Amino acid sequence: MEFLAISDAALVRAAAILCRGGLAAFPTETVYGLGGDAFNAGALAKIFAAKGRPRFDPLIVHIASIAALEKVADLSLLDGAARKKLNLLVERLWPGPLTLILPKQKAVPDLATSGLPTVAVRFPDHAAAQKLITLSTGALAAPSANPFGYLSPTRAEHVRDQLGDKVDIILDGGPSKLGVESTVLDICGPLPRILRPGAAPKEAIEALTGPLARPEAAAGTAAAPVSPGQLKSHYAPRTPLSAYSLEELRSLSRENADAGKGRAALLFFDGPSRDAWLAGRKGGEAAALRVLSEKGDVLEAAARLFETLHELDRSGFSRILAQFAPEAGLGAAINDRLRRAAFAC
Ligand code: TXA
Ligand code: MG
Repeated sequence: MEFLAISDAALVRAAAILCRGGLAAFPTETVYGLGGDAFNAGALAKIFAAKGRPRFDPLIVHIASIAALEKVADLSLLDGAARKKLNLLVERLWPGPLTLILPKQKAVPDLATSGLPTVAVRFPDHAAAQKLITLSTGALAAPSANPFGYLSPTRAEHVRDQLGDKVDIILDGGPSKLGVESTVLDICGPLPRILRPGAAPKEAIEALTGPLARPEAAAGTAAAPVSPGQLKSHYAPRTPLSAYSLEELRSLSRENADAGKGRAALLFFDGPSRDAWLAGRKGGEAAALRVLSEKGDVLEAAARLFETLHELDRSGFSRILAQFAPEAGLGAAINDRLRRAAFAC
């Protein structure tokens, strides 16, 4: 496995590997992706194997121009209303952290879409990712570059530690700017539906498309997920994690919060919540405390979520007690990841 900082030479090298059907991990603005040529079934099979990902969980195809969209999606199958929404979303939110579910083009192997008639497409807002896509085959299938079910990588080192030699090359572009995955949006139905909350806030989508369908109550089963990122247990650290409101955290008994003699870690959304929690405690051994954003900036909190969970997971705590974010904007994506991480315990 090669581990290279982003440079023109490194991008050319990675593109050559991709064109030969190899795997390259690369940075995007959300999280690091594990890329393979979207038109090459052999490369796609390697992605599933490297991640230990079940074949029923389809991949996102990454493109680097609007023109490339028609190579992977058959837009002639969209009705007029869906077409209109597509145009608006693409014009305003691409490139960016929005993945669109669209009718699949035949050139995309069934393996990429797990046999679904639809394909997930995203145009990342990241210069190096765009260059890599353009230099290779114009369309890269790329799930997050982590073993299936584990925390997504927001640094190249996370990919190296988790996937190591299962990848041919890892491109290091520093920490991910957004830190949570893209929002997955299905625009084929009468009302657009968010299949996975993510870094494009629901409010921004709704402002363009009008009302969204309500999220599925029970989002599929392990055998037949609606959108398998929707599996209830996902994005999980190995350390057991539970998520609470500040009020719940404050009312947890000391024994609970300090379980294992200060080996529990508390993860607060903001500084004032940590201070309120500390003020309510009467001495005792302090648990390890972390704060996602001292001033409560939801963008900063999202960018630090996986990074902080990775760090806590390496530190040998017996458990992680996390505070939910306010539900608005990216808070919905943070809370979704915390709920799924907690469900795995
Ligand atoms: O930000 C991101 O989206 C990152 C970066 C690397 O771009 N990628 C990512 O990929 O998170 P992955 O494979 O970890 O998540 C893909 C999500 C899954 O929830 C999957 O079920 C859903 O997209 N998906 C893919 N194709 C689909 C389809 N045809 N219909 C419904 N959901 C689909
Ligand atoms: Mg993933």
